[in-house]
Amino acid sequence: MIRSRLIFLLVFISLLGCAERDLKERGLVTDQAMVVSAHPLASAVGSSILRQGGNAIDAAIAVQFALAVVYPDAGNIGGGGFLVLRQQDGTLDALDYREKAPAAAHRNMYLNEEGEVIDGLSYKGHLAAGVPGTVDGMVQAHEKYGSMPWDKLVQPAIELAAKGFPLTSKEARKLNEQRADFITYNTKRPEFILQDHWREGDTLRLQHLAHTLERIRDKGRVGFYEGPTADLLVAEMKRGRGIITKADLASYRAVWRKPVTGQVGNYRIISMPPPSSGGIALIQLLTISEKYPLQDWGWNTVGSAHFMIEAERRVYADRAKHLGDPDFYDVPVEDLLDTAYISSRIKGLSLDKAADSDEISAGVPAPPESPNTTHYSIIDAQGNAVSVTTTLNSSFGSKVLVAGAGFLLNNEMDDFSVKPGFPNSYGLVGGEANAIRPGKRMLSSMTPTILEKDGELFMVVGSMGGSTIITTVYQIILNVTKHGFSMQGAINAGRFHHQWKPDWVLSEWGALGAGTGLELWLKGHRIAPKDGGIGRAAGILVLPNGKLEGGADPRGDDAAAGF
Ligand code: DON
Repeated sequence: MIRSRLIFLLVFISLLGCAERDLKERGLVTDQAMVVSAHPLASAVGSSILRQGGNAIDAAIAVQFALAVVYPDAGNIGGGGFLVLRQQDGTLDALDYREKAPAAAHRNMYLNEEGEVIDGLSYKGHLAAGVPGTVDGMVQAHEKYGSMPWDKLVQPAIELAAKGFPLTSKEARKLNEQRADFITYNTKRPEFILQDHWREGDTLRLQHLAHTLERIRDKGRVGFYEGPTADLLVAEMKRGRGIITKADLASYRAVWRKPVTGQVGNYRIISMPPPSSGGIALIQLLTISEKYPLQDWGWNTVGSAHFMIEAERRVYADRAKHLGDPDFYDVPVEDLLDTAYISSRIKGLSLDKAADSDEISAGVPAPPESPNTTHYSIIDAQGNAVSVTTTLNSSFGSKVLVAGAGFLLNNEMDDFSVKPGFPNSYGLVGGEANAIRPGKRMLSSMTPTILEKDGELFMVVGSMGGSTIITTVYQIILNVTKHGFSMQGAINAGRFHHQWKPDWVLSEWGALGAGTGLELWLKGHRIAPKDGGIGRAAGILVLPNGKLEGGADPRGDDAAAGF
């Protein structure tokens, strides 16, 4: 009784924040080229590469390395990511540089003798890290599509790390918040805690990282997976009882995959295939949405929000059962994208009443602490488009810096299903498809996406946000294609999220129109407000006159840059 009153109060309070914002106002508009990323310095690096005549892949490589310096909570060389490419002539490609489980990993590695999950082991510290994929991914992207010399693309990041850069207030706050974890989980004092308390405008210099980047600049993949960097990483593992070996590093290879695509009305969705669940889930959601009058119902009204929640409930149930690394598990991609199958998933969907997700997992649905990943979108002057989402998983990953090499290791092992039905840090459950196996890639929700409209490039978009990435990208696309918002407005607009289990709707403050939260609650939806925002997106829209509009997320320090 007290709990339901509390929920009612929260829903009611959430309505108070419903200020009408101008969701059609445009973000930065440029004539030829655009980069949108989570940090103004990284966007400036990408834009400068494009100005020098580099293509979208050149800019993507430079932005990836720059983010590893100026946005260390998610930008990385010790993590992984996905890149989706549409060349100007319409050719598509996708690069999977997701981390892999080390050879010594096994399915029960995070369980105690009673078979119970050991709290935090897959999430913090050395054992949480998968074998990093970023550097090999960037090298392979450069070999296949790069046009500028490799060293010119790594150099801007080296300069940022060696000379230092001013911290934004958000970054200073995050570094201070992580101080205790940095002390607990590191075997040597990392550069991030040399100062007791960071303030906005303080200069952060990362000398060890600068030297590691120099080795990558001079030797490519060997500069990371072999030689001094590999020695330092393996020594770090030994001190912290981690399991990544030199053989794991030497054998890591990023993989080129065929993007998943789906035609929805006039739009063709091009997105990341497994081991991401994002592309399939997004196409399922948009296909289902095409069958209902979302446009007439209006943005975030009770009709559209209820329908979207019910669609999300069904799509995330599929995710939990069917999706995993296609190199280890037979993911039925074609079947999941079959239009008849997708239609069958919404049979019985009531427009009046919330369904029940079977069992409700205990606890608050929000992740235990600030998660982090980052997305950037690029279009070059030739019309090539790149959509990249890259991550350490949670904020500052495993919290472990490789001593002497200055980079953070991911905690991506937590994206595996560590035990069937046991929720990961995003509350996601899974089973056999996503069980741990040596050399296997953990399932992801990252959804770097490109849209065509009537065969022409239309949008580049993606987001951070763990399990909420898919629903964030879904809502942004609907905001533009159904509700006529600008790219900036579509990203500014409030968001909500449902993921089957736990059976909660997370909603940003003020995301639901006046009365909507209450009406949804009366239909049987459990709604929990989400502080700190859902997702952080970066998008570029091609306007009817051929100009480009950038959408940079006001939830972070994100910035668009271009010319
Ligand atoms: O791959 C995934 O789905 C997660 N590791 C992404 C993490 C994430 O987005 C956290 N940031 N908010």
